[in-house]
Amino acid sequence: MKELEVKLNTNSYKIIIEDGLLNHLSFYIKQVYQNNKIFIITDDNVEKLYLNNVIKSLEKDFIVDYVIIPHGEKSKSIITYADVCEKLIDKGIKRNNLLIALGGGVVGDLCGFVAATLYRGLPYVGIPTSLLAQMDSSIGGKTGIDFYNLKNIIGAFKQPKMVLIDPLTLNTLDKREFNNGMGELIKHGAIGNANLLNMLKSKPRIDENIIAESLSVKKKVVEADEFDLGDRMKLNFGHTFGHAIELKYNYKHGEAVAIGMLMALRIGIKLKITDEECLNEIENILKLYDLPCDYFDYNDYLDDIIYDKKNIAGVINFIFLTHLGECVIYKIDENKLKEKLNEC
Ligand code: GLY
Repeated sequence: MKELEVKLNTNSYKIIIEDGLLNHLSFYIKQVYQNNKIFIITDDNVEKLYLNNVIKSLEKDFIVDYVIIPHGEKSKSIITYADVCEKLIDKGIKRNNLLIALGGGVVGDLCGFVAATLYRGLPYVGIPTSLLAQMDSSIGGKTGIDFYNLKNIIGAFKQPKMVLIDPLTLNTLDKREFNNGMGELIKHGAIGNANLLNMLKSKPRIDENIIAESLSVKKKVVEADEFDLGDRMKLNFGHTFGHAIELKYNYKHGEAVAIGMLMALRIGIKLKITDEECLNEIENILKLYDLPCDYFDYNDYLDDIIYDKKNIAGVINFIFLTHLGECVIYKIDENKLKEKLNEC
């Protein structure tokens, strides 16, 4: 078992990482929740795999009910949000009842947003079951839905009471989905934990230890900047170009981040910010996990990133590695960007 604590001004919470934890959830939930009713939100894929077991592991201590949403990004909509709220109200949810997000990123983001807004806020616990959600969206309190064709455009910061990760859930992911999560895990090593990168070279099982090493990077960044106003941008390493590539092609998020990291590494080397050894080292690790390392010329994507919604008042925040496990935020005016890149 590995335990991390995310220490925030608003609310501190534990992340527990333990093989087989889904079979004794009550033990942990009782540490953060003293009332008797729990509502689980999950999707129709995760339902088949884990819902019965999860209910079994809770029902000796709690009255458990659930709402199931269709799997997939389409469920991160205002329609599904309204539907879930309606069902919870019909089932008699009260504002001191606990919500559990059981599933991947869509379930986590939607359930977190319900928890942030229904009754102006309910407690919730995250039980992420995909590697991508375990690595990223379940930690740090970003919740939300897509709207008007824009991803995560409506949302709120809402920290969970606890995050419970069972590494054995990774066994049911298909290879591509598993590697999708590896993109974010490798990113954590790249920006903040060179030791993790070393560990990955032997392609170990992604166990409690590796997950904890990776999340310790996200934890530190979130603690330094809970509301994403500064240091938290470091988590966007590989996302500047990755996001543009993800929107244009049929890549999963972690795959696009892999390509975006390589593009950022090449630019960082040109600008003499990034140590040259970073490119080979990271490319080799990405290849171990079958992540795409296709060459994309950054010049073809400069316009996309200049118009990206993440840019604030004409300033682009590039995240560059300096060395393996260390990064910097490099602010550059969008007008200067092309000029600067042409010079190198
Ligand atoms: N996914 C980036 C963040 O949590 O800030």
